[in-house]
Amino acid sequence: MGSNSQLMVLIIIIFVEILVTVNGELHRVVHPATKADGSISVLVIGDWGRKGMYNQSQLAYQMGITAEKKDVDFIISTGDNFYPSGLTDENDPAFDESFTNIYTAPSLLKKWYTVLGNHDYRGNAIAQLSPILKAKDSKWFCMKSFILNTDIAEFFFIDTTPFEDKYFTDPEDEVYDWRGVLPRDKYLSTLLRDLESALIESRAKWKIVVGHHTIKSVGIHGNTKKLVQKVLPILEANDVDLYINGHDHCLEHISSHHSRLQFLTSGGGSKAWRGGYDRTSINEKEMRFYYDGQGFMTMQITETDIDIDFYDIFGNVLHKWGASKSYFSSI
Ligand SMILES: *[C@@H]1O[C@H](CO)[C@@H](O)[C@H](O)[C@H]1NC(C)=O
Repeated sequence: MGSNSQLMVLIIIIFVEILVTVNGELHRVVHPATKADGSISVLVIGDWGRKGMYNQSQLAYQMGITAEKKDVDFIISTGDNFYPSGLTDENDPAFDESFTNIYTAPSLLKKWYTVLGNHDYRGNAIAQLSPILKAKDSKWFCMKSFILNTDIAEFFFIDTTPFEDKYFTDPEDEVYDWRGVLPRDKYLSTLLRDLESALIESRAKWKIVVGHHTIKSVGIHGNTKKLVQKVLPILEANDVDLYINGHDHCLEHISSHHSRLQFLTSGGGSKAWRGGYDRTSINEKEMRFYYDGQGFMTMQITETDIDIDFYDIFGNVLHKWGASKSYFSSI
C-alpha cells in the first residue's frame, strides 16, 4: 500500500474515532458460535510483546498445545501488547516480531480480541487500531473499547489506561498518546455511561468485562483506585460475572464475598517474577490463587457453567475454578 493511501486510512480512523467519542457508542462485534451446543472456549493472555524473550516464545508454544486441546474459538489479549512503548507506526517490525511470528500454532490462528495497555499508549496508540495491521495479520483485532457478542456471553472491553491519574499528573518522563482521549473527563464519563447502559441492556447469560488494569490485585501494581471507585460499582450493580485484566505480570484469582464478581488476572505473557504480593489490599478469604510467573488462562463457557483454568509455561494446570449459573445467582 502506498504511503498516501496509508495516510488516508489513518485520517479515516482518526475521524471515526472522533465520531465514536462524540456519539459515545460502544462499537459492537459479533463472534458467532461455531460449536453445536453454543458453548465457547477462550484463551486469555496479557502483557506479552517482547520479541519472544522472557519466555514469550516458550509460552506461545504451550498456548498452541492447550488451545488445540480446548478447541479455542478466540483469544483475548488484556493489553500491553508491545513493549516497551507500543508500536511506532503500522510498519513497526515489532508487530511481526512480537505477534505474527510468535503465535504461529494453527490453534492460535483465531481472532485475537485486544485492548490497549499503558505501554501501548507510550507509542502510537492509534496505530494498533489500524486496519493496516488487520490486513497484515487477519487474527489481529484491537479497539480501545468495544462489545463482543457471542451467543451466550457478552464481553465488554474497556480502555482502562486513561483512568489512571498518575499517567497524567506524574508521567515520569513517559509520553502518552492521548489522541482521542482528551478532554479526559469527558472521555471517562462517556465510557462509564456507555458501559453502564450496555450492561443494563444486555440479555446475555454471562457478562464479562475485560480491561488492562487491575481492579483488585495483590501483585506489584495492586488495586487500581480509580477503577475501584468508578467501574466496580457499575459491575456489581449489573451482575457482571467476571472482570478480566492484565497489568500485573502474574496469574491470579480473587473472588468476592458480597457479589458474584470474580477478578481474574492473566498478565503473564512474557516478563514476570516481580515478587509482589501485597495481601493487605485484599480480604484474605477472597484470595483464591496467585502465581508470580509466566502463564495464561482458559475459559469454557456453556449455557449453565463456566470453567476457568490457569496454566504455567509447561502446560501444568495451576488453578481450576468453575461455577454454575445457579451458583452465581445465589450470591
Ligand atoms: C522462564 O520460565 C522458567 C520456568 O518457570 C523460569 O524458571 C525462568 O525464570 C523463566 N525465565 C524468565 C526470563 O522469566
